[in-house]
Amino acid sequence: MTLTFLVFLVIRAVPSEAVVCSPGEYAVHGECCPMCSPGQRVQKHCNNFSSTSCIPCVGNTYTDHPNGLEECRRCKFCDEELKLIIKEKCVYTRNTVCGCREGYFCRDFHDEDCEMCQKRTICPPGFRVSSPGTVTSDHVCEICPKGTFSAANMSMVCTPWTRCEDSGMVEVKAGTSASDAGCGRGRDAVTTGAVTGLIILVLLLIPVAVFLYWRKKKKRKQYEPRKPETEGLEKGEEALVLVPENGREIAIGIQETASHPGVLGL
Ligand SMILES: *[C@@H]1O[C@H](CO)[C@@H](O)[C@H](O)[C@H]1NC(C)=O
Ligand SMILES: *[C@@H]1O[C@H](CO)[C@@H](O)[C@H](O)[C@H]1NC(C)=O
Repeated sequence: MTLTFLVFLVIRAVPSEAVVCSPGEYAVHGECCPMCSPGQRVQKHCNNFSSTSCIPCVGNTYTDHPNGLEECRRCKFCDEELKLIIKEKCVYTRNTVCGCREGYFCRDFHDEDCEMCQKRTICPPGFRVSSPGTVTSDHVCEICPKGTFSAANMSMVCTPWTRCEDSGMVEVKAGTSASDAGCGRGRDAVTTGAVTGLIILVLLLIPVAVFLYWRKKKKRKQYEPRKPETEGLEKGEEALVLVPENGREIAIGIQETASHPGVLGL
């Protein structure tokens, strides 16, 4: 404001330019001429006989205000080196508007236009985003308070560590700011579990064993041929004995061979 005023004073102080023109006019050679519209420039200044002659801006140029310029302004270039990108293309009535590429914010912002960008901070695991960045500001990260963690980049929240005791387990790995606590069955729990398992196994095996023993015994009883009455038989003598088979008794020949009685055939 002050500077503009000073400049104004200096201009006024210069005798040859000491002309105050009405709005929409500009001073040239001590005379006031009508301005050209935005998108145009002066081709020929006005004189006592004709008004200002204007022509449109061409190529990569523009004028964004009523003006008395002899040349249109050159469109701004969004420098990739400064991570700038074109946000709004230059038109004859408006300059280019530069913005920042993805992952960057504007460090030097004037009139909705950016001059220079800076890489955004990534809040790493162990931190949360306490204040998300804007066009002109970086992300603000905050360390996860004790007892909480965040495992991903750009976490919005810090999650409390899992309380293992709540699920009847014990903590086998302490939580950090970047990782959850690890739960597991403790050594006591493992022993208790093993003993319980063993008891259950034994309890299951007892009836099975009993059943198997009983079946085996029954089978033997059922299929063991009745001890033939061999007493009184001389060696080589034959006898008919009744052997129960499938509930019916059939006769088979028994011959006393050696000391053991043998089944000869049916
Ligand atoms: C324009 O007319 C003014 C008087 O109205 C005169 O003083 C001035 O010299 C003239 N300028 C030219 C360029 O003819
Ligand atoms: C976080 O981002 C960095 C790169 O910005 C990457 O190397 C890393 O693997 C990421 N970590 C996780 C947990 O996503």
